Amino acid sequence: MVVVAILAAGRGTRMKSSLPKVLHSLGGRSLVEKVLESVEPLSPSRRMVIVGYQAQEVKASIQSNSLEFVEQTVQLGTGHAIQQLLPHLEDYTGDLLVLNGDVPLLRTETLKQLWQTHQENQNAATILTAQLADPQGYGRVFCNDEHIVQQIVEHKDCTPAQRQNCRVNAGVYCFRWPDLAKVLPHLEANNSQKEYYLTDAVTQVGQVMAVDVADYQEILGINDRLQLATAYEILQRRIKEQWMLAGVTLIDPNSITIDDTVELQPDVIIEPQTHLRGNTKIQAGSRIGPGSLIDNSQLGENVTVLYSVVTDSIVQAGTRIGPYAHLRGHAEVGTNCRVGNFVELKNTRLGEKTNVAHLSYLGDTTAGSQVNIGAGTITANYDGVKKHRTQIGDRTKTGSNSVLVAPVTLGDDVYVAAGSTVTEDVPNDSLVIARSRQVIKPGWRRKV
Ligand code: UD1
Ligand code: CA
Repeated sequence: MVVVAILAAGRGTRMKSSLPKVLHSLGGRSLVEKVLESVEPLSPSRRMVIVGYQAQEVKASIQSNSLEFVEQTVQLGTGHAIQQLLPHLEDYTGDLLVLNGDVPLLRTETLKQLWQTHQENQNAATILTAQLADPQGYGRVFCNDEHIVQQIVEHKDCTPAQRQNCRVNAGVYCFRWPDLAKVLPHLEANNSQKEYYLTDAVTQVGQVMAVDVADYQEILGINDRLQLATAYEILQRRIKEQWMLAGVTLIDPNSITIDDTVELQPDVIIEPQTHLRGNTKIQAGSRIGPGSLIDNSQLGENVTVLYSVVTDSIVQAGTRIGPYAHLRGHAEVGTNCRVGNFVELKNTRLGEKTNVAHLSYLGDTTAGSQVNIGAGTITANYDGVKKHRTQIGDRTKTGSNSVLVAPVTLGDDVYVAAGSTVTEDVPNDSLVIARSRQVIKPGWRRKV
């Protein structure tokens, strides 16, 4: 049985941010969400998050029934943070897995191995370590030949000789809880930071073993924005490799970013300078980019998006978006449509085979199937106070430069003459001309 505790009470001074460190985002999820995600498959019996700095914000961002929050009202160090668990785990006799909330790239596999080694060797504690070429900033771990930990010294407390040791503490620990609980109350803050270090407890609990991680990148801790950017790069490489191996073509992968919340089907092609974010799903055969941003949107099969921005929207199979289109505010475009050059759709639904090819704004509009929206057609959806809807029936065609003043309904098979300003409803099968008649005055010429 294992209980998980995540340290997330610190402010993260080195981030120089008003946001608590663990809420900084890494490819669609916050640091602490990433950590939670990595422990999920271990099916912990309890998951406890230690919060302190801006506790309300941290809680609100990850709130879920199965999480327990433990407050550390003053942040006196990682050991002090774990001391807060004592009243909550009084009769607990199993293992405690402790993770720093700022170590977001851990693989579940690594945690499983750590826990397995812990159990097999009946250690009092087992800690994850790595050999880093640049161990700057990390606690150094000193072991004997059998990987038994002798000492952990924080970077700031190291002598110059100790700093030469490249084996670092990852901030991931497996403890036999009763052994840890015994030593926790006796921690002291005799160090350069005057903090209660969890690492001091580690060396007092009994036999402690170090497990070196295979891929050192997993243990990168985020203390400042440089490390955040490095972690982002590592995560991006992982995500892109995963999708390429799953059958997605990335053209010039370095210029593409993909949040780890995105789902892609095989034979999707992502062109350069394209960014896929949030809860985005793209089905087989679609070609996105170059130069596009898809955020929190669902795209069906064989959709193309060229130099366009699609947010919070749904696009059905076979539809072509762009170049230079903007879909937002829950736009829903049916199958085999075309939304083209300089068109903006906001909270608008289009049926199948409907075209809005040039220079239009459709806001709060519902259009049927096989509609043709002529170049420059605008729905005037806002009267200065409220937004209103425009309804357009099947097969209706609007002429160039028409304005549909909402609320207004055009029936099926309606024709709108170019340059019309439509303010009243138009029944099925009608032609509407809503503009002043052209006047010609022959022979009129300015008399100078
Ligand atoms: C810690 C380890 C160090 C290790 C490194 C790995 C200690 C003393 N040092 O150092 O050996 O190499 O992580 O990344 O543990 N936190 C609290 N309450 C506190 C202080 C911190 O919850 O009072 C949380 C922070 O929010 C953070 C985590 O603990 O998520 C680590 O704290 P941080 O100050 O970043 O420790 P490091 O100096 O990186
Ligand atoms: Ca840290």
